[in-house]
Amino acid sequence: MKKNIVVCVTGGIAAYKAADLVSKLSKAHNVRVLMTRDAVKFVGSETFKILSKNNVYTDVFNDEAKPMHIEIAKWADIFVVVPASANTIAKLASGICDDMVTLAFLASKAKKLVVPAMNTAMLENLATQDNIQTLKDRGIDILDSDSGLLACGDVGKGKMPDPDRIIDRIDYLLSEKDLKRYKILVTAGHTVEAIDPVRYISNRSTGKMGYQIALKAYNRGANVTLIIGPNDLDIKDPFNIINVVSSKDMYEAVNKEFEGADALIMAAAPADFTPAEYSPEKIKKDDSDNHDIKIKKTDDIIKSLKDKKDDKVVIGFAAESENVIANAKKKLSSKGADMIVANDITLKGSGFKSDENKVSFVYKNKNATSFDLMKKSELADIILDNLAVLLKDRKKN
Ligand code: CTP
Repeated sequence: MKKNIVVCVTGGIAAYKAADLVSKLSKAHNVRVLMTRDAVKFVGSETFKILSKNNVYTDVFNDEAKPMHIEIAKWADIFVVVPASANTIAKLASGICDDMVTLAFLASKAKKLVVPAMNTAMLENLATQDNIQTLKDRGIDILDSDSGLLACGDVGKGKMPDPDRIIDRIDYLLSEKDLKRYKILVTAGHTVEAIDPVRYISNRSTGKMGYQIALKAYNRGANVTLIIGPNDLDIKDPFNIINVVSSKDMYEAVNKEFEGADALIMAAAPADFTPAEYSPEKIKKDDSDNHDIKIKKTDDIIKSLKDKKDDKVVIGFAAESENVIANAKKKLSSKGADMIVANDITLKGSGFKSDENKVSFVYKNKNATSFDLMKKSELADIILDNLAVLLKDRKKN
């Protein structure tokens, strides 16, 4: 659902990254931008006006016939101060309101997120730390700065986090905590089945889909454990993460964690085959053109849980290249799942590696539903909407 987000840009070099944030936020939400006078020296207000498709206010005394700081304060679902300079943080902590940002912030009862970005010494200065603590004590959310090479040439803490991380935090703060009572286990990614110290069998699953489900479930209040194979994702989230390598590792981790869980979403693509024997030495080429490697089937993880399922909800995936719905239906019953998310892996721009997916949901007692191509983050929420219904239904049965 569209939310009303106020982005307050203050005077810091990271102001240019706030433009990217506003651009991304505006694709899904209503966004209004307020800027301090110093912020305008870093990035022009016109940039934010075009990106947010709304007038940008940099001065309390503007052309409007009504007090815009009050209007915007009431309109907002959330205020995001990004980048938050030491000066603005100090003003927010002490209640000074001498510009559009501090005035509207003080006037608003909306949720608030402050994202400090500055030189390391300024950030670590006790004055700034005390001010940040004061804001935290008042229930204002603070997103920690990243570390790295800063614009001033110093290396240390104080970098503005990536806009995607800020968007995740906004999502967390605005999400209804409808999964609060539940422990949800999610698997993601591929596994690696070693042939020798150099070679392996694997597949193209990146873990993006499972990760989005874990992240959204966390944002919706669930106690989340993500079991994930080797991956290139930048996971910095505070939920429980269990890293595994092989299909056997994933099997063991899932079986252990399943016991205390209310639900399992098996989005991973664990390898179906593994070498019958592992060679501790690198296998050498010989003169023949062919070389046989014996492989054996791995254990099917979902199937192994059938007897332990009780009233737990199990959602599986089905990666298909033909007869998608019919094959997914077969998997639904053979794997004992409550729902299958089926995708056609032959479609371009969908599934493996992509940020988007086109799927159908196959259920036990009703007709399948098919969806258009959509972002994996959006799909994750729809899968969780279905999970919430299945979790509620189990109580009735
Ligand atoms: N799965 C599993 N254990 C495996 C392989 C797959 O639990 N060893 C799960 C997947 O996580 C997914 C579902 O089973 O939720 C279907 O996976 P998919 O790869 O589509 O099908 P397979 O069962 O592997 O069958 P096939 O490859 O023959 O289509």
